[in-house]
Amino acid sequence: MTQIMTLTIDGIEVTVSRGATILDAAEKAGVKIPSLCHDKRLTPFGSCRLCMVELKGREGKLIPACFSPARNGMEVITASAGTFLRFEAMRRKPIPWSSWR
Ligand code: FES
Repeated sequence: MTQIMTLTIDGIEVTVSRGATILDAAEKAGVKIPSLCHDKRLTPFGSCRLCMVELKGREGKLIPACFSPARNGMEVITASAGTFLRFEAMRRKPIPWSSWR
């Protein structure tokens, strides 16, 4: 039996099946989230962090949309001033050399 979950992406309600990621839900809702390392043919590994989003109620913590499972009742925010500033700060941080291997 397929479990159906309903969540919102930037206020747009969307229904997805169990196993869908936030990125899948956003795509279905017609909300574009930038991604780089995501490829549907590969197991998600969330390394580039380009797809970071925020959850309502957990503001201040960014999570990768391509790697995070969609959950019932989630309220995802893809673009807020806080998201932009935190993303910019994170993007400007040097990537540790150990991540390149
Ligand atoms: S697309 Fe790279 S971490 Fe999500």
